[in-house]
Amino acid sequence: MPRIKDIPKVDRPREKFLKKGPDSLSKSELLAILLGSGIKGKNVKELAGQIIRKFGANFLDLTVNDLLEIKGIGQAKALQIISALELVKRFYLDSVPKENVIISAQNVISLSSDLVDKKKEYLVCFYLNARNVLLKKEIISIGILDKSLVHPREIFGLAVELRAAGVVLVHNHPSGNPAPSENDKEIVNRIIEAGKIMGINVIDFIIVAEQGEFSFFEKLNSQDSKLYVSDGIQYSLFDVFETTSPAYAQITQKSHKVYFSQRARETAGYFNIQNRRFLGNKYKLLGFIEDIVNEKCNGFNSFCDIFAGTGVVGERFNERNIKVISNDILTSNYVSLSTFLSAKQLNLKKLEESITYLNSVDTKSDNYFSEHYGNTYFTLENARKIGAIREKIDDITENEEEKNALITSLIYATDKVANTVGHYDAYRKILDSVQPLKLLIPKIVSENNSNNEVFHEDANTLIRKINCDVLYIDPPYNSRQYCDAYHLLENLARWTKPTVFGKAGKMDRSNLKSSYCLRSATKVFDDLIRNANCKHILISYNNTGESKNGRSNARISDNELIRILKNKGEVEIFERDYKAFTTGKSETNGHAERIFYCKVTN
Ligand SMILES: C[S@@+](CC[C@H](N)C(=O)[O-])C[C@H]1O[C@@H](n2cnc3c(N)ncnc32)[C@H](O)[C@@H]1O
Repeated sequence: MPRIKDIPKVDRPREKFLKKGPDSLSKSELLAILLGSGIKGKNVKELAGQIIRKFGANFLDLTVNDLLEIKGIGQAKALQIISALELVKRFYLDSVPKENVIISAQNVISLSSDLVDKKKEYLVCFYLNARNVLLKKEIISIGILDKSLVHPREIFGLAVELRAAGVVLVHNHPSGNPAPSENDKEIVNRIIEAGKIMGINVIDFIIVAEQGEFSFFEKLNSQDSKLYVSDGIQYSLFDVFETTSPAYAQITQKSHKVYFSQRARETAGYFNIQNRRFLGNKYKLLGFIEDIVNEKCNGFNSFCDIFAGTGVVGERFNERNIKVISNDILTSNYVSLSTFLSAKQLNLKKLEESITYLNSVDTKSDNYFSEHYGNTYFTLENARKIGAIREKIDDITENEEEKNALITSLIYATDKVANTVGHYDAYRKILDSVQPLKLLIPKIVSENNSNNEVFHEDANTLIRKINCDVLYIDPPYNSRQYCDAYHLLENLARWTKPTVFGKAGKMDRSNLKSSYCLRSATKVFDDLIRNANCKHILISYNNTGESKNGRSNARISDNELIRILKNKGEVEIFERDYKAFTTGKSETNGHAERIFYCKVTN
């Protein structure tokens, strides 16, 4: 490492500043001046560069503790840098004109206090831009609010003029009671329908009265957060309001056909793609899906399973002359999709030898995995073995395919001995899963894979790069994130040994969250469908409906799903009672599985 004295004078930050001014300095050179000096083995420019690279875009949010983690930065230096940042932020904020940002019903209510005492009924509209900044507040009508008297033109005419992205409507009840009347509900319905046609978000309809307030957005939104905006996305009543009776009821074809899931032939020492517990896996519904594909998608040559999970759906259509495209955002799923469905050839003999070797790995001492998951999700012996095998996989593999196959074998074996009910949100109290862990060999039908492709991408990124005859879409339905349920397998697959926290031992999963579990679900789904280059679309989407537990409510309403699909072509819905065949008896748990089918014409 050159010392700062060895760098030519003109390139040293202070000298450069004095000679050419601050504009000529890079970010790390500016930081180098603040730091003043480097540490042993690292000159000040390198130290500054390391900090800039580490925190990059988050630099302005740095904390003293973040800086103290960097070798060579003491408390005095850290305080100096954070104070400089704070100073810049304060002066900057003072110089920016204050905007009136409306992010919740409460913001609107506090700007509507003048309406509470009015003796006449008022309808007032708040016009917002896409960042929820208030553009204008306008009185739309005075006098009895009647659906026949309020014309959407009066609301949306000005919205177009102002180029507003959304509107919030406020209405007062002189009676003092804020509960919405039937007339109010009909008006809201009408405004929502008009907003959809105009492409302007109807964010909320609020009633203010002496006895309190009522917000349709707050009432209908089952999520904990009641904010109008999150992750930079503006939400509206479109996402939470079924304006008419569910459209799907009228166009649904019901099937009461019973499908028996065929048991794949089990060969001792081997495992199949479906031998894994996975929430929402469609193994028991393959017959239902296959019937619809056979009826609707005549002579298809390619099938894309873009939210593939275990991959069982793609595998069902995997034949020698068909191209199956599989994709999932989680590494723990990708490795397995790649093992079973990728065109890349594996040396099966070498794989079997490696599995035999890994089964004999010495497991007496503790490791990352047993320290975090021993005696909770697994017996201590099994946890030690899992950690030791995972460590060895990285040492013995020569290529990506072999590594993926060994990790897959480990994931399936781990799942077999996990003390859970099939996911890793929690472990069972009694540790009675005592059989020893054993790796098996994946049963791969490689002659069918030669045309296939496997991806590890966000579905909305991938959709722009591929085309296929049949696109099968099976996204998460509700707010439950797969990276939460399978954090432990994801940790095992990635093996970067992150810090884990809480009783469940979860790692930081912020970069793994799926937009399909957030309030942005409708918007990302719309984007996915718009960019789909295919002939047929099949979507599995549950009808869990409104439940008391907000987490299990479907993220996209049926009406929205149908509206979005109709932009692409005609829509048909197939529905089947979901029957779980367990001990020979059939059990219905009250929900129906639906496939939304769209023949693409646009
Ligand atoms: C309902 S599951 C699919 C189940 C699958 N059909 C099966 O039978 O196993 C949804 C899957 O979508 C994946 N996923 C969620 N968000 C995604 C995204 N934005 N892009 C790609 N995959 C995603 C999850 O990791 C999960 O495996």
